[in-house]
Amino acid sequence: MDWGMRNRLAQLIQRDGRAMFLPIDHGYFQGPTTRLEEPGKTVAPLLPYVDAIMLTRGILRSCIDPANTKPIILRVSGGTSMARRDELDQEGITTSVKEAIRLNACAVSMSIFVGAPNEHRTLLNLSNLVNECEEYGIPVMAVTAVGAELEKRDARYLALACRIAAELGARVVKTYYCEEGFEKVVRGCPVPIVIAGGPKVDSELEVFSWVYDALQKGAIGVNLGRNIWQHDYPVAMARAIRAIIHEDATPKEALELFEEIKSSGTGK
Ligand code: 5RP
Repeated sequence: MDWGMRNRLAQLIQRDGRAMFLPIDHGYFQGPTTRLEEPGKTVAPLLPYVDAIMLTRGILRSCIDPANTKPIILRVSGGTSMARRDELDQEGITTSVKEAIRLNACAVSMSIFVGAPNEHRTLLNLSNLVNECEEYGIPVMAVTAVGAELEKRDARYLALACRIAAELGARVVKTYYCEEGFEKVVRGCPVPIVIAGGPKVDSELEVFSWVYDALQKGAIGVNLGRNIWQHDYPVAMARAIRAIIHEDATPKEALELFEEIKSSGTGK
C-alpha cells in the first residue's frame, strides 16, 4: 500500500484501530433533514469528538470552515430523492475524483444497493470508483444501503452486501448493526466495518448497546448520524459514544457519562 493511502487511512482509523465518523450527508436524498437544516451549526459543537465527517461537496463548501475541520469523507454518489422512494437504488456517481482531490478528501464514499433492481449498476459504480481512487491513493468507503427497506438488515443480507463491497475493492465498509449474527458479517468481510445508526430511537442505552456489541464482534467503530445530532443532547451522545469506541466504556458507563454531561449543562 502506498504512503498516501496509508496516511489517509491513518487519519481516519486511529492508533487504537478504532474510528468514529459523523455522517451529515443525509440531505443528498432527504433534503433538509430534521436537525440538519443548517449543517454547519449542527456539526460545529460535535467536531471535537469525532475522527472524521462524511458529507457532500455542496455542504462541505458552503457550511464547513476549511480552517477548522476534521478529515473529510466525501459522499460522491447520489442523483435520487425521497420524492421517488422506489427509485433510491438508481444512484450514480455525482462527484469526480479530481473534485475529491481538490477538496482534500481523506476518503470518498458511495452507496451500493445489493438485492435492489439497480444492484448491478451500483456495484459497477463501486468498481469503477475504486479503479480510479486507487490510482491516487484515496480509500473508498462503501455504504451498504437498503433505501426504504430497513427490514432487510439481517445478518445474511448484511454479510452478503459487505463481502461484495470488500471483494470489489472498498477499503472500509459502512453497514448496519444486527443483534443476531453480526459476528458473521464481520468475519466474512476482510476490510474494516463501521456501523450506521439508522433512524433515531428513543433510548440512549439502546444506541450505546449496539455500538458496544458491534465493537465486541469486530467492527472498528461507527459512521453514526441521526442518533447523535437528532438527539436533544447531541454533544453528550457524541462523547458517550466516543468513550465506548476509544476508551472501552461499557453501555452502562456510557450512559452514566451521558447523564453526567447532560446535567452539567454542556451536553447540547
Ligand atoms: C445515508 C448514509 C448515512 O451516512 C448513514 O446512514 C449513517 O447515518 P445514520 O446513523 O443517521 O443512519 O449513508 O445514506
